[in-house]
Amino acid sequence: MGLNQVRRCSAATANWTASASSAPSEPTNAAAAARRAAVLVRPAVPANSPGTITPSLVMPRSGSARTCRAVALTSSTAGCMAGGKVAGSTADMTGPPVRTPYSVQSVMILDSRPEAVLPEYHVTGRDPPGISGRDTGPVELSPFRIERFYARYEHSTRFMLSSSDCESRTIGALLEFEPDAHERLLATWCGYTESPGGPELRQAIASIYERTGAGEVLATSSAEEGIFLLYHALLRPGDHVIVETPCYESALEVARSTGAEVSEWKRRYDDGWAHDLDALERLIRPATRLLYLNQPHNPTGTLMARPTFDRVIDLARAHGLVVFSDEVYRELEHDPAGRLPAACDAYERGVSLGSISKSYGLPGLRTGWIATREAALRDAVATLKDYTTICASAPSEFLTALALRHREVLLDRNLGIVRRNLPLLDGFFERHAATFAWTRPTASPIGFPRVTGIGDLTRYCEQLAEAGVLLLPGAVYDQPDHIRVGFGRANMPAALDVLEAHLPAG
Ligand SMILES: Cc1ncc(COP(=O)(O)O)c(C=O)c1O
Repeated sequence: MGLNQVRRCSAATANWTASASSAPSEPTNAAAAARRAAVLVRPAVPANSPGTITPSLVMPRSGSARTCRAVALTSSTAGCMAGGKVAGSTADMTGPPVRTPYSVQSVMILDSRPEAVLPEYHVTGRDPPGISGRDTGPVELSPFRIERFYARYEHSTRFMLSSSDCESRTIGALLEFEPDAHERLLATWCGYTESPGGPELRQAIASIYERTGAGEVLATSSAEEGIFLLYHALLRPGDHVIVETPCYESALEVARSTGAEVSEWKRRYDDGWAHDLDALERLIRPATRLLYLNQPHNPTGTLMARPTFDRVIDLARAHGLVVFSDEVYRELEHDPAGRLPAACDAYERGVSLGSISKSYGLPGLRTGWIATREAALRDAVATLKDYTTICASAPSEFLTALALRHREVLLDRNLGIVRRNLPLLDGFFERHAATFAWTRPTASPIGFPRVTGIGDLTRYCEQLAEAGVLLLPGAVYDQPDHIRVGFGRANMPAALDVLEAHLPAG
């Protein structure tokens, strides 16, 4: 691809213009062509010139109507976007102004026409200097404590008694779901897959939702990727985010890494892990853009009451907040009557984060997804995904779609395990009530008892791991008086026996 830059830049106002051209070439297939239909132009903006970019895209001389997007890539990992419909050869497109506190390093033009071979583009922009004056740069991610702890023990300890995923299956067992599945897997083409996910996969995911269709689903390579993409696509310094805590660490840390200010909507053991709506309302500010929720909840295994959920959505709507709803434990409510609506169905600015890992028990497939009816949110995530994984693994796509078409079978078995194991835990905690205070989970395969009289729980969990049973110390959630237990595995009764044998005397 030839890149031809035209620079015109005044140091004071940082007006810039850049254009690019590429030599035509024949696309070999739609996915490859879609990837090729993107061009990077590097405007000559002065370094460290934060401000507003207003991309205006003058279209190539020839061309039919299509959608284009200009994505400004900045010195932060957060991109900014502008986009619009382009019609005809001379029309130009001006996107809405996009604010960035970072210096613009390049602008990427994405053309939706699969057959486009990027003729010539011309972009103009304006970076008024000093608008925010905050070129803080990206904030460093601190080590993910849950993952670091598990990295030491997960694959070497005999019993996992703290896993958040349910009992898994082999590929062979999945293939038994459909008579021709084995042949179809063998015939799966190991080329690039479609970036938003193939139609079969998106359809299977959409069947979970009531009002959200296959076209409103974006597959990711794990829910973890979805967290990274959504936060970084949406947030930048100057924004404010509210995160329900305690939480899966990346929900908090990745939000912080965008440079946005993060407030915790704290839930407390002493309040029975209640959701304090007044406290939530007090946290909302004019700069608040997003509220992260996780229901059913990691680590407590509790589930928000329906009237509370409705109130949270009302509040979000009143303030125009995006609700980023981490629903990776959804469909594993111990009583399905308590299931909350998916945020993508309940709210026009709701984003549901899903995963094949937890309730369905297939974390090795590394498939997650984002579902939202708001097109701009999907677009922002899709644009950033070109810089992480581009598209999902072809065999995982196939197997995830297959599994989701039979998700009732997966859920029935996993719910059966959870329902059998939970009374055993109840009995255990009753026998050791002096040590453990048990808030009985109502959803998911995890719970978060408070522990007294054992001392340093991280040290205790390390010793237990040596003895063959893995608990997760609450310190990884900034809750050092708790441990996380998991009861979604078939061998949990044997694991509990080992734990009981290694309780400190007293
Ligand atoms: C609340 C929550 N969200 C997201 C994830 C990530 O799931 P995945 O395996 O799909 O990356 C986890 C994993 O533990 C989780 O507990």
